Amino acid sequence: MRINTPPFFLSLIVLLCACKHDIINNSTLTNADPTIIVTPPINGGSNSTPGVSDTVCFNTDVLPLYVSYCGSSGCHDVNSHRSGVILTDYTHIMNGIRAKQSSNSNYYTIIGNGMPPRTSPQLTAANIATLKKWIDQGALNTQCTNVCDTTVFTYAGAVQNIIANNCGGCHGSKPGSANVYLGDYASAKSYITANTTLFNNAINWTSTSAAMNMPQSGKMVACKITQIQKWIKAGYPQ
Ligand code: HEC
Repeated sequence: MRINTPPFFLSLIVLLCACKHDIINNSTLTNADPTIIVTPPINGGSNSTPGVSDTVCFNTDVLPLYVSYCGSSGCHDVNSHRSGVILTDYTHIMNGIRAKQSSNSNYYTIIGNGMPPRTSPQLTAANIATLKKWIDQGALNTQCTNVCDTTVFTYAGAVQNIIANNCGGCHGSKPGSANVYLGDYASAKSYITANTTLFNNAINWTSTSAAMNMPQSGKMVACKITQIQKWIKAGYPQ
């Protein structure tokens, strides 16, 4: 275990304080495993806010940003590991993160200060704030499920963010990896309209070749895939 890992019980207390509404599945917790399962309840679907939880979810909020903006092939994926840095899984990301000390976390402070390279897509201020909040909350390996309201599936209400966070580092600036650019409404709509089956296979991880499953580092949580599929079926509502 890393030296900067807070004692397990402390992490749990912090998490409980941060999100008293969360249902934490205790049976999955052991000292050896920093993974914490959080299942925020849906807030009734009254608006586009997915759940009442204030917990930043590593699997759905943090990892996709590192993978998409830093972990592309040729950069910080497992195969390329430029400068020895891998940013496609929790353990490797924690090599440059100190829980509750964002200003001492290299893999946080470098963002916008040299990385990603100037010519690559950049994280937004909101993305960076999410990373900081995750570090402030203890940089836990929170694995959240049930994090979306699948009754919300407009572009502005859901799909824009899903694509930006999960695909943006590779397909968010032109021409985009494999010449697939999904960085705005019109481009995403026209690409998906012309390549619906290929696109659906990519996000559902049912492509004929594993390299075509997207994101390549891991399938998105089911409810986000559902939101995108509903958006396509409904004719791409704005
Ligand atoms: C880390 C970079 C990266 C991320 C993140 C990423 N892609 Fe890709 N994408 C690629 C690369 C590289 C290819 C070319 C793959 C190949 O054909 O070998 C590709 C290809 C594709 C293709 C075309 C399939 C093909 O190979 O013809 C689609 C569609 C696609 N991506 C959609 C997405 C979507 C949707 C997301 C987000 C949910 C996403 N990608 C996330 C890098 C990425």
